[in-house]
Amino acid sequence: MSGIKILGTGSYLPEKVLTNFDLIEMGLDTSDEWIYQRTGIKERRVAEPDKVTSDLGYEASVRALEMAGLSPKDIDLIIVATITPDTCCPSAANWLQAKLDALQAVTFDVTAACSGFVFGLNIAEQYIKTGASERVLVVASEVMSRTLNWKDRSTCILWGDGAGAAVLSMGDDSHELLSTHLHTDGSRGQDLLLPGGGSKTTPISHESVDKGLHYLNMIGANFSFKVAVRHFIESIREAARHNDIDVEDIDWFIPHQANVRMFQFIAEALKIPFEKFYLTLERYGNISSASCAISLDEAIRDNSIKPDDLICIPVFGGGLTWGSALIRW
Ligand code: UT7
Repeated sequence: MSGIKILGTGSYLPEKVLTNFDLIEMGLDTSDEWIYQRTGIKERRVAEPDKVTSDLGYEASVRALEMAGLSPKDIDLIIVATITPDTCCPSAANWLQAKLDALQAVTFDVTAACSGFVFGLNIAEQYIKTGASERVLVVASEVMSRTLNWKDRSTCILWGDGAGAAVLSMGDDSHELLSTHLHTDGSRGQDLLLPGGGSKTTPISHESVDKGLHYLNMIGANFSFKVAVRHFIESIREAARHNDIDVEDIDWFIPHQANVRMFQFIAEALKIPFEKFYLTLERYGNISSASCAISLDEAIRDNSIKPDDLICIPVFGGGLTWGSALIRW
């Protein structure tokens, strides 16, 4: 038991819907059938051209704060998990802080790709436990659409835009964050990569743009699929072991929403009913760090999650990064 409570959650999805059929109309050589069968995705959301990551994060934060019954002034730490910050410097968390008018808070970003929300929860847990912070706002927000090569059918079909948020503090025994576990493997950084924009390719040149270095790159997506399945399984087992429960005691699995086939494999391997996976990727695609945060918020708000339910959030992403959070609602 950590004694750390989730006071509120929130999420935000841009209004614009891009269906598989829209992608075909844009000239992509694909089919709705291929995308749906291989990934489970039917449509995704795309942010308006004038909206940035901190704008989406702002909307999710307002909703999470409202559920928590708090104002931005009550927050002393804001962590934004993202791989699509508004700017390289300052952080998306800084831009968000200004929009929330929460200047009393300390703010920073976390780069852990699709695992970012759980990394944010873990950091919040440490700050609260040590007394360094009292109330923490963890936001996962992504505008993935701006990183995509819309001519590359192996990647652009997967991703979407959106944001999720959670407010954490010390609290009584309900809605408790029981544990978080994190892992990274930097030797596999090439597998899921956004190569441009960092010190390797600055200043940005015509050459780097022509080479497509500023697009999200997934080398060996099929390999990554198998590694992801393995790490999802390990993460679920680790969370159960650490909390002295059986995997079958877990009521909900709200994973990073990578690919429906992964969860079919995992359900079979762990002998979990597939219905225990709460999935939003059919409607939203893969929103990197925000996927599981948005799904958690939806599962709470549509009353899928009942009091006392055990919720496991296993994550896997570029870096490589993986891990889990376990929550008793
Ligand atoms: O969020 C982080 C975690 N996410 C991941 O780790 C992603 C994991 N990977 C995946 O989810 C899957 O590997 C993909 C959905 C990306 C791809 O599915 P796949 O079953 O692994 O397909 P594939 O890459 O092995 O490609 C099979 C075929 C290829 O054609 P050939 O070479 O067999 O003729 C591709 O060119 O499917 C073709 N293909 C497509 N066809 C129609 C690839 N993308 C498409 C497409 N539409 N969009």
